[in-house]
Formats: sequence, C-alpha cells, structure tokens
Amino acid sequence: EEKNLAEKGGFLQVEDVDLRELCELVGTPAYVYSSTAIVDAYRSFEDAFGRNRIAICFAVKANSNLSILSLLRSLGSGMDIVSGGELARALSAGVPGERIVFSGVGKTAAEIRQALDARIHQFNVESAAELQLIAALAAERKVRAPVSLRVNPDVDALTHAKISTGRKGDKFGIAMEDVARLYADAAADARLDPVGLAVHIGSQITELSPYQSAYSRLRGLVGELRAAGLPIRRLDLGGGLGISYGGNTSAPSLAAYADIVCRTVGDLGLELTIEPGRRIVGEAGVLVTEVLTVKHGEDADIVIIDAGMNDLARPALYGAVHPVSLLVGRPGLKRPCRIFGPVCESADFFGCYADLPPLMQGDRLVLHAAGAYGASMASNYNTRPLAPEVLVKGDSYAVVRRRQSIADMLVLEKDAGWFAASGR
Ligand code: LLP
Repeated sequence: EEKNLAEKGGFLQVEDVDLRELCELVGTPAYVYSSTAIVDAYRSFEDAFGRNRIAICFAVKANSNLSILSLLRSLGSGMDIVSGGELARALSAGVPGERIVFSGVGKTAAEIRQALDARIHQFNVESAAELQLIAALAAERKVRAPVSLRVNPDVDALTHAKISTGRKGDKFGIAMEDVARLYADAAADARLDPVGLAVHIGSQITELSPYQSAYSRLRGLVGELRAAGLPIRRLDLGGGLGISYGGNTSAPSLAAYADIVCRTVGDLGLELTIEPGRRIVGEAGVLVTEVLTVKHGEDADIVIIDAGMNDLARPALYGAVHPVSLLVGRPGLKRPCRIFGPVCESADFFGCYADLPPLMQGDRLVLHAAGAYGASMASNYNTRPLAPEVLVKGDSYAVVRRRQSIADMLVLEKDAGWFAASGR
C-alpha cells in the first residue's frame, strides 16, 4: 500500500503536501514522488537481509531522476546502469564508480571506455564477443577490467513476456553450458579480472519460485567453477521483485525473497549484490493528470486525459493497468469508463475502470504506482513535452525536473546546414 499517499479531507496528498497545490504550481501531467516512501522501500531491503549484508545497486532505468539517485546514494545505495547516459547520471549524483555495476546486452566501445575510466565495480558481461571487446579496451587503458558473467539460467520468471529475460532463447545472458569455458578464458586473460557471476530473470516478478530455480542453478555453476580451480568472489542476483498494481496481484514478501537468497547462495562465502528498481520507487510515485474530454457512451464513458502513452508507456506497451483515483473525491454512483490519452494512437489506452464516479472535464486524476518505468520511459511522441517531476518530503517539495518547453524540444533540429559528402 502507498502509505505516503493519504486521503485527507477528501483530497489526495503526497506526504503532507496537497496535490491540488502542486497541480496549480507545475500543471498537469506531472509526476510526484514521496521521498519517505523511497527511503522506506530501500530500508525494507536492508531490513529483510538483516545481518547478512548485501549490496544494493538500484536499477537506474526504473527512475533516472538525478535527485532520486542522489537520495538513494545518500542511503548508501550503489547503481546498476545500462548505458553511458545512466553512468553519467550515477556519477553526477555522486555515486562512486566502485558502487556501479554495468549491465546490458549491447555495450558500445565508447560506453565501455567511459566505464573503465570511472573505475566501476564490475561489468556484467553478456557474450564472448563483449568479453573480448572489454579486454581489448582495458589493455588500451592499461587497466584490468573486473568482469562478471551474466548467466542465462533458462528459467521462466512467470511474468509478462516482454519483461522476461532469463529463458533460453531470450537475448540476455550466456547459456549455462558456455559459462565455465568463458570464465576460464577470462581467468587466463591478464587484461580481465573475473570476479563472479550475475543473473537477472525478469521484472514485475510476483512468484518467488523462479528465483529459487535461478539461484540454485547459479549455485551449481559456482561449484563447477570452484571445482575447476577458478577464482570467484561475487554473485549479482539481479532485480525483478514485483509490486502491487491493485487488482489481485500482490507483491512478494521481501523476507521470503531474502530467505531464498540465503538458502540458495548464502553459504558460499561470496559477496552478494541485488539490483532492485521497481520495488524501490514504483509505489513511491503518482502521475497526476486532468480530464480533457468525456464522451458519453451507452455502457461506459470514453474519458480523454492530458497524460498519454508518451508520459506513461506501460499500459500501451504491456497492457499494464495503474489504479486511478480522483484527486478530489466525490461520493455517489459509479460509472464505468475507458480512459485514453490524447496521443493519436488507439494504443494510447490506460484501461477500463468501474470504480470511479461519472467523470467530468477538469477533474484531476491520480494514476498510482507510477514511480518506476514512468518518467524514465517517457518520450516526445506527438511532440509532447516531458512532464515535470516533483519530489516531496514532509511538507516541502522540490521540482526536480521542470516541464520540458517546446523550445527545448525543437532546439536539436534548428540550424541544420547542408554539406557536400566526400563521395567515398
Ligand atoms: N537488473 C537488470 C539487469 C535489469 O535488466 C533490470 C530491469 C533490473 C535489474 C531491475 O528490475 P526491477 O527490479 O525494476 O524489476 N519497462 C518494464 C520493466 C523493464 C525491466 C528491465 N530490466 C516495465 O515497465 O514493466
């Protein structure tokens, strides 16, 4: 439950800040986050593991806002990054290189160089070719690159197909049967420092059994490597823990997850890292939006809001449904409605809702659990500006990203010059 989103006197607040006031200030659509909720979610990971210390590397892709990264850094969090851009964000938020792990299936030479220069904790390597590229670039930089091999454990995470990453045939990770050989190659290569193994099986995972399978396979591999006399000191267990988006999905217990970790890989004497994203920021954020138009239908109204798939892509991409409530509650009859964004695509659809009163133009709505993969996946489609982000703490707030202006959007395309190509 979003305990930092309270209904007081019929309207919604984030912590002690009235969302109506924020709407007047920054307009809609707007993302609003509770810093207390983020801190609490981070602490609940720490608490779940208790004395069995584990390193937490927040998955920057879930929410890349510099102020949120910096808040997490102040709690001691490291970062899991997947691009040079995310690396720059983590560094800019003050995260030391030694707390940064670099995941991702398509790292470019430029990004690898950038990460070597930042002296990151480790590269989670996804293929033999990537391993060779990192070795060559490390030699060029005269450093030894810390590498861990990302294993594809061939486990079904039992989540949406578009966010499942650990099955055979998925583009991610190194096949189980190739890991030991590749690890031995890395160990024999003076340019590489093989530090361990990594795994990440998917996202919005609500059943814990896939973790049990994946981590058991990882354990098997560790045994294999050790039997071959190969050095190993770390395991990166990935992210993926789900949250509740209302309905009948419930978030798996962190204590039960920690228990699986301890039972499967806890006794191997290895440094453990996890890479949670959604579970830390998802429930800490809402997207506030205004109703632009209502078309009355026979069974249900068609409601057009001022937030679209460019602001929150999850419904259009995955059929995800975010719970919706009125910013200022209204008692009375409910009326089924279908909520759409303003973008020129039928996919710009947020879902069917049965528990709202008849909606009217000007009503403000709150889309819940929008703190993860909301702002970070936003685009400029239909030349719609990126929505602002507001961080709340107690009774204060900070606009941690201002709304993009139209000039901001056009500037990259101004003043194009024409040149004669060399003709090669
Ligand atoms: N580590 C790696 C290597 C990842 O690829 C991801 C997410 C995470 C950690 C963090 O996973 P989390 O704890 O947030 O589930 N856009 C989709 C989710 C894509 C997740 C991609 N990888 C969505 O909106 O549902």
